[in-house]
Formats: sequence, C-alpha cells, structure tokens
Amino acid sequence: MQIRTCVPLWLMVVLAPSLMLLLVSPIADRIDLPPPVTGLSYGFYERSCPKAERIVKQMMKAFLTPNVSQAAGVIRLFFHDCFVQGCDGSVLINDTQGEQPAIPNRTLRASALAIIEQIKTKLESVCPNKVSCADVLALAAREAIRRAKGSHFHIPTGRRDSLNFANSTTVLANLPGPTFNTSQLLLSFGSKGLNAIDLVALSGAHTVGLAHCGTFSKRLRPTVDPRLNPTFAESLIQTCPNSSINVAVNMDIVTPNKFDNKYYSNIVNGEVVFNSDATLLEDSRTRATVEEFAAEDHEFHHHFTISFIKMSMIEVLTGNQGNIRKVCSVLNSKTTPIITTTDSHVESELDTPSYATM
Ligand code: HEM
Repeated sequence: MQIRTCVPLWLMVVLAPSLMLLLVSPIADRIDLPPPVTGLSYGFYERSCPKAERIVKQMMKAFLTPNVSQAAGVIRLFFHDCFVQGCDGSVLINDTQGEQPAIPNRTLRASALAIIEQIKTKLESVCPNKVSCADVLALAAREAIRRAKGSHFHIPTGRRDSLNFANSTTVLANLPGPTFNTSQLLLSFGSKGLNAIDLVALSGAHTVGLAHCGTFSKRLRPTVDPRLNPTFAESLIQTCPNSSINVAVNMDIVTPNKFDNKYYSNIVNGEVVFNSDATLLEDSRTRATVEEFAAEDHEFHHHFTISFIKMSMIEVLTGNQGNIRKVCSVLNSKTTPIITTTDSHVESELDTPSYATM
C-alpha cells in the first residue's frame, strides 16, 4: 500500500524499462559467455575436491609473484594443448615420440611444464585421482592471465586427460605458424570452431611473453618487411644478428608483462614480430576488430574472456572418456605397477595406451 502511495503509477511506468535493464544487465553479461559443453561445468570440483581451484590460485600466485613473466609460458602451453587433439593435457606428456619434440613445441618453457607438475603433485596429495592435468593447465592459464593484470573470469572444469598423444607431424599440422596470413589463420582457427573475432582476441595473448629470433627472422632478411616500423625493425636486427642465435625479444615492447590491449596498437604501429600478427590489420575480416581492441581495452578483455573459454573447451574429454593422470608428464599405463589379477574391475581401471597417430 505504502509503495503505491509513494511512487505514482506514471513514474513506475516511466522507470520500468530502465529498472529492467539494470536488473538484467549482469545476467546479460553472463549470457554471452559460452555455455559449458556437455560434461563440463562451472565449479566441477566443488564436491570432489573443494580446494582444487584455491590451490591452483595460491600456487600460481606463489610462482608468479617473484616473476610474472612466467605467466606467458603457461598461457602458451595451454594454447598448444588445446589445438592438438583438444584440451586433454596431451602436451604435458614427456615422450620422445610425443608432442613436446615437435618444432613449435621446442620453445615451450620447461618452467611452465614444471609449474603444472608441481600443482598437480599438490592436488594429488590433497585429493588423489580427482583433478585432471588438463584442468590443472586450464585453471593455471586462467590464473596466469589474471596475475599478468588481465581479466579475471571463471572457466568450466571437468576435462579428462588423454590416454595418448599426437606425433610431431600432427602437432605441426594443427598449430598455426608465425608466417601465416589471415586466410590460413582463419582456416586453422575455424577447424577448431573459432571465428575471426576469436582469432583476433586470442592473438592478443601476444601482449605478454617472448619470441625467439628464428621465429621472425624472415621479416628482417634478406629485405626488411615494409610493414615493420623502421626503428623497431632496426632494433630487431641489432638483437638478432642471425636467425639461429638463441635470443628472444619481448613481443610487446610497450608493456611486455602486462596483459593489456597494447598488442593491438603495436599492430597498428608496425611493431609486432610475426607476420601472423601484422596480417590481422590487412584483412577486411579482421581489421575492424584489431582497431576496436586497440581503442578499447575493456572490449579486448571482454572478447578475450569469451574466446579463451571457447578455446578451453575444444574437443575436451569428459565423463568416462580418458582418465585422470597421476603424473602429468607420464601416461598412467607407464606409472601403474603390473597387477597380476583376473579381477575384471581392476583391469578395466587400467589404461590401454592407444597412440593416436603413431
Ligand atoms: C594466431 C596464431 C598464433 C601463432 C602463429 C603463434 C605463434 C607464436 C610463436 C612463434 C611464438 C614465439 C615462441 C618462441 O619463440 O619462444 C609465440 C609465443 C607466444 N604465444 Fe603464440 N601464436 C599464436 C596464437 C597464440 C594464442 C591463441 C595464444 C594463447 C591464447 C598464444 C600465446 C602465446 C604466448 C603467451 C607466447 C609467449 C610464450 C613465452 O614467452 O614463453 N599464441 N606464439
């Protein structure tokens, strides 16, 4: 009764649309986040290992506080996991026939692999056989972005680990190369269910981290790529006197360890190292997004979050697929002691290694 007398009906009618907007806007923000694919959910470990996400968060904080530049290694590791037979932890397996010896993976950071292994060891001691390596990597990459002052967001969990890994040829066929043009990049990302905006947004991860001379030397010699800013090109030539030198440069010369939108203004200014970065400004399918992200930091973070979650769900194993690896770098079949039993239940718990591409 009181409400009716205090707020006249005409005022309520006038205010109703704006009130509705206020009420629904946080929900609308969440609506355009990609829904989890079947088998994944937000807070998957709430019951089976309630401390899982907190442990990842605390350990990443401990690893990255003294040296935030380590964040880049973990973020790239996750990308290389997801693009090769899905986000299944297969990149973590240390095997001479596996993914790590493939050319694009040779510059993955050993420190990033060690970080994931240490977090997993801790999680195994708290809740054995519950949290997959694929999820540890996904959560660690999410934390790495946050610690580098990028956006903070939830990601769905529930991924299972692969029982196998790809070989070098498959790795090479699935990861885009730094010499790619936009058409090649769109094809590569399209094959993973990612669109042109995802391509531009995810490439923004090159706002942190390093590139070795050999990955961009073709833009310097025999002739300098005219799209490179001359001063920037000269400094690259000085740092990289030849392509085989084992030296790396910061990819973002403005804010190398900050997860921000400077990468996009670097593209506009001709100050990015890879052809795959520069090409995004030349193609009508990606140019406007580059310009938009260069102008609006929050637009970059918003779209990056969406695209990162999409990437984190590529070809995931869920439910009864795959397994939970005990040690991320070793298939369970190689860590499980030989069990001599006829108990079919026990046998079914053992992994059968099936090398997908070998
Ligand atoms: C668009 C296609 C992409 C190409 C061609 C590409 C290629 C490369 C290359 C060649 C390097 C340098 C590696 C080195 O010399 O050590 C690199 C570094 C890096 N990439 Fe990408 N990348 C792409 C997309 C992505 C995506 C989608 C992400 C993550 C979401 C990502 C994250 C990173 C990070 C963080 C680094 C720095 C790694 C470090 O400092 O250890 N990249 N990328």
